[in-house]
Amino acid sequence: MAKLTIPELKSRKGRGSLVMLTAYDYPTAKLAAEAGVDVLLVGDSLGMVVLGYDSTVPVTLEEVLHHTKAARRGAPGVHLVADLPFLADATPERALAAAERLVKEGGADSVKLEGAKLEAVRVLVAAGVPVLGHVGLTPQTASSLGGYKVQGKTPEAAERLLADALALADAGVWGVVLEMVPAPLAALVTERLSVPTVGIGAGAATDGQVLVFHDLIGVFDRFKPKFVRRYLEGGALIREAIAAYAADVRSGAFPADEHGFAMDESALEGLYGKES
Ligand code: KIV
Repeated sequence: MAKLTIPELKSRKGRGSLVMLTAYDYPTAKLAAEAGVDVLLVGDSLGMVVLGYDSTVPVTLEEVLHHTKAARRGAPGVHLVADLPFLADATPERALAAAERLVKEGGADSVKLEGAKLEAVRVLVAAGVPVLGHVGLTPQTASSLGGYKVQGKTPEAAERLLADALALADAGVWGVVLEMVPAPLAALVTERLSVPTVGIGAGAATDGQVLVFHDLIGVFDRFKPKFVRRYLEGGALIREAIAAYAADVRSGAFPADEHGFAMDESALEGLYGKES
């Protein structure tokens, strides 16, 4: 499968078919690529699902960069988006400097930023860095939004969300993530926007969907958002596998002969009886 270019991504508008998934490391990115995912996202959700932070706020540029490099190695042929972590996009200059590292060192094809940071988007796009927008629940500023809550439920909030999405598209993003947005509002935004929307907790009318890998495989159990469908109870399966390994080690059932390496034991003859 060839890596999707920006015109190809934009051409997925209206088809509801864009499949995006987070990936933070080599094996996950490789598996997702083999499964035919269109776009991989090194989201700053890595802070919560991989690094064990309580939120995405502490995630650093170095951490996103480290994981972007690993995901890139696992999926060289898939369009890879890297998140700008909290405050890395506080000014257009900072956003450009962070994007330079993610693209040139990390191998990202696009960067994603949260909120309507229009000047930062314009500067990035003018410099040749494709940008994915993100409105609705923006986890980096969840506290100001009153927590991890559905956004855009009042007429004013819905109008602001639509205006932000339209302004981001005007500023040049190739797509907009809609997170925890009521389905009818997400449908309206999708209809009004010229670029693809990618929903997470935004209903079925968006141009694509994104999920966090650890939610999809059921290994993140601190909480389960309503919009998550687990396609695997991976946590239980992995725990069982590790418990079986531990039991085998303790009983002597592992390792078996086939896991060891043979040698000509005559090579050891001179060692027997010798003090070391
Ligand atoms: O960080 C992330 O994984 C994200 C997705 C939930 C869109 O921003």
